[in-house]
Amino acid sequence: MFERLEPIAVDTILGLMAAYRADPDPRKVDLGVGVYRNDRGETPVLSAVQRAESALLTSQTTKAYVGATGNPGFNQAMERLVFGADHAALSAGRVRTVQAPGGCGALRLGAEIIRTASPGSVVHVPTPTWSNHPPLLCGAGLKLESYPYFDAATGGVQFNAMIAVLERLPAGAVVLLHASCHNPTGADLSEEQWREILALVKRRHLLPFIDMAYQGFGDGLDADAFAIRLFSSELPEVVCAVSCSKNFGLYRERTGALHVITETPAGAEATLSNLVRIARGIWSMPPDHGAAVVYGILNDATLCAGWMEEVDAMRSRIGGLRGAVVQQLQQHCPQRDFSFIARQRGMFSYFGMSTAQVRELRSRHHIYMTDDSRMNVAGLRQENLEYFARSVAEVLGR
Ligand code: LMR
Repeated sequence: MFERLEPIAVDTILGLMAAYRADPDPRKVDLGVGVYRNDRGETPVLSAVQRAESALLTSQTTKAYVGATGNPGFNQAMERLVFGADHAALSAGRVRTVQAPGGCGALRLGAEIIRTASPGSVVHVPTPTWSNHPPLLCGAGLKLESYPYFDAATGGVQFNAMIAVLERLPAGAVVLLHASCHNPTGADLSEEQWREILALVKRRHLLPFIDMAYQGFGDGLDADAFAIRLFSSELPEVVCAVSCSKNFGLYRERTGALHVITETPAGAEATLSNLVRIARGIWSMPPDHGAAVVYGILNDATLCAGWMEEVDAMRSRIGGLRGAVVQQLQQHCPQRDFSFIARQRGMFSYFGMSTAQVRELRSRHHIYMTDDSRMNVAGLRQENLEYFARSVAEVLGR
């Protein structure tokens, strides 16, 4: 049977990771995969994570299964982190949370519960969206359509075009929204725009499916959860997929959660039973370690305060780099305006180069970004900023 399979192209982000690792050139710069790096180009284990792991090592007495919904303490701590401790949907018993293997697991579980509740659902994703959204959502049987989002002319959001398309969607349509730090563009919605979308979603009876993979990397832990908190208090139903990969630096531990907000507590219980059945049929029970670490951090005031400082430090380094790279680019490519990079949020910026230029940057200068010219700003360092800007100028000038 397998002889009938044709080889397929490797996923763009995974392919780029492998190409970067294989490149022996000492000047190489990794702006590809969305992994935070410090100014030495490293992705160290956060110190709050190290401390929680040490405590776990001495306190953990078993490796027996945790259960289908994961670690209940982790789920509650994530609810407080995502919604804020006093959120009305939590106190009304309208939220159910299931631990998932990373943000991807949460997205897949969210897509599966939508298809289970409403087979034939269409999910509308922004143009562009994260390259793994389509396989995750379509793999669960949802149909995919797109709405306008990124405005290449300004580096911001084409808000009017976005609204015009969403306004025409039929009741029950699912709209995938990035809570903050839009991947791949870095272009985020303002609070005022979120409020407009909320009014539209209410008017058109749409279902928001919100992906939050970078809480804390945009404007802060609370500010980045603004849309989730607002929508969950104003709408009967919301689906939220959350990742701990970036803000806890737990990439390889596959730690995330799906929160489903329902209209009533009874609906929430029925939803939870379906989520458990779906998860059982895919991964059965989620991996424990990352969730146990997050639980350890969020339930210890000292560790939690230390972790928040680390998140602040990562965010401010990215913010500083955004300003610094704009300066360097202005100096080396004065004919082009790169100021949009400083206005964007999170790890990514859509650089606005052609695929041919991106590939030239890779082959001649060993600078790696995805073919659509998404760059991970956190991959830059003080010591390679100038090299980066000079290389870009050379490629753009050719
Ligand atoms: C990215 O967008 O680079 C990250 O979210 C990693 C991944 O799995 O694609």
